[in-house]
Amino acid sequence: MIRQRVTVPSILERKSTHTTQAAAQRITMITAYDATFASIVDESGVDIILVGDSVGSVVQGVANTIPVTLEEMEYHVRLVARANPRALLVGDLPFGSYQVNSEQGVRSAIRLIKAGASAVKLEGGTNMFDTISAISRVDIPVMGHIGLTPQSYHRMGGHRVQGRADNREAGGRERLFEDAHSVEQAGAFAVVLEGIPRQLAQEITQKVSIPTIGIGAGPDCDGQVLVLHDILGLTTHELKFTKQFADIRTASIDACTSFVQEVRNGQWPDDAHSFH
Ligand code: KIV
Repeated sequence: MIRQRVTVPSILERKSTHTTQAAAQRITMITAYDATFASIVDESGVDIILVGDSVGSVVQGVANTIPVTLEEMEYHVRLVARANPRALLVGDLPFGSYQVNSEQGVRSAIRLIKAGASAVKLEGGTNMFDTISAISRVDIPVMGHIGLTPQSYHRMGGHRVQGRADNREAGGRERLFEDAHSVEQAGAFAVVLEGIPRQLAQEITQKVSIPTIGIGAGPDCDGQVLVLHDILGLTTHELKFTKQFADIRTASIDACTSFVQEVRNGQWPDDAHSFH
């Protein structure tokens, strides 16, 4: 059966209007960074493919997302777009490409859209109101991202769970409610809730009119996102909020080891794999 292309309006329609959302309605989002994996991810029937700036840690081998550049994100968005996914393609605006002012945000967002994204994601809440509004005004759909925002690595002192302190400081519980409302009011079509307590994520989900997509935010969000390399078991770290749904790292090492052994013992290539 040919799957319908996922659009921003169709994601908005999936906002839960009940206390507990019908499980089948939940939005799913997985990251991808190249055409091969994008086509695999798309085959799963996922709703959204995020070309995340997590490309820094899982592909480029850097410790956090800070060094990732707009040019690199454009490149990866272009690769994923070539897979022509049915899923909605969201491109992540990297650190330094939108923090200066809203005009810079609009210019950077246009570059990711021209590279093939249908929407962009950026991190921040109240402080990003003007930028989200400005990008939305030029008809580029924006996905917000609040809570543990990896681009705030230095302010947070590492990748730390947010929303535990009951205050209005950045990352505090009360501030996160304000952040969620700001992102919604600015015109975002969805918001990622990352690394916050389950109860807080549930309350935010009930209070905002746009879908929430959680990662390390418990099961009560309108959707869930994971990094592809964690799902496949390609990464070696074990994080409390992720789940390895396969062990592709071990399968890959085994396949490469077999190749090395078969070449060394003369078993491969055999005559059947040779031209005559
Ligand atoms: O960059 C990324 O992959 C992300 C998701 C983890 C939400 O921002």
